[in-house]
Amino acid sequence: MSTAPSARDRSGVVARLRAAGCVFAEDEARLLVASAGTPAELDAMVERRVAGLPLEHVLGWAEFLGLRIAVDPGVFVPRRRTEFLAGQATALAPAGAVVLDLCCGSGALGAALAAAVPGVELHAVDIEAAAAGCARRNLAAAGGQVYLGDLYEPLPAGLRGRVDVLVANAPYVPTESIGLMPPEARLHEPRVALDGGVDGLDVLRRVAAGAPHWLAPGGHLLVETSARQAPSTVEAVAAAGLRPRVVTAPELGATVVIASGPRS
Ligand SMILES: C[S@@+](CC[C@H](N)C(=O)[O-])C[C@H]1O[C@@H](n2cnc3c(N)ncnc32)[C@H](O)[C@@H]1O
Repeated sequence: MSTAPSARDRSGVVARLRAAGCVFAEDEARLLVASAGTPAELDAMVERRVAGLPLEHVLGWAEFLGLRIAVDPGVFVPRRRTEFLAGQATALAPAGAVVLDLCCGSGALGAALAAAVPGVELHAVDIEAAAAGCARRNLAAAGGQVYLGDLYEPLPAGLRGRVDVLVANAPYVPTESIGLMPPEARLHEPRVALDGGVDGLDVLRRVAAGAPHWLAPGGHLLVETSARQAPSTVEAVAAAGLRPRVVTAPELGATVVIASGPRS
């Protein structure tokens, strides 16, 4: 009968991960050993990690603001920097807020808001079936509605003018920079999750243009961008008739544009 992996198995795992170039071999080994039910399962998990699969895809989950978010293969892994966007959105969401998470991926942002703000009415959209399925699982406990489709297109008409907080971590990598991304992202996350077109702002522009139709009076749009793209993101948001400002968390490498909608 197989027994759970032991501390002795762990040192072997650390050595294999180090040899494969994993920078955080000790931390990763601890998580892998804790997740595997048997030495054979551990071996298979380490094999997948050594072959280059993101740790979160091997484990099947990512930590996001202390929450365990399920992340299926082929679904974008929520990044630490996006916790900053979640925190900014939480600060603007009153109890009972209507929250829309566009380009939701695994649903990490919506889940974080639902965990932090009592009584939110949560809606989330993704264009990829794998992401929408994953978000459905992650948001079920919060009663979140997840729609499959292109940005605002699958949303119920009754949501128009009711959204208090609209968050979007849309793809914003310029097409020609995709090749410079680490292989974990480039090879294991879908292109549609990364590629934002020539200047990286194709999807963000459409998010901004649609936002005034869906925001409640006094509602807010929050989008993640990069420091370099912040001026053009501000321009896109202002062109949609919203009032943007930029907030940053340099220690996380995070830049967020927050825009207020019309007051009435
Ligand atoms: C950068 S990932 C972010 C995922 C998630 N918000 C997060 O922070 O972990 C972008 C997501 O946008 C989705 N996406 C790309 N274009 C879209 C579109 N036109 N409509 C809806 N979702 C889209 C991708 O499938 C991907 O899941």
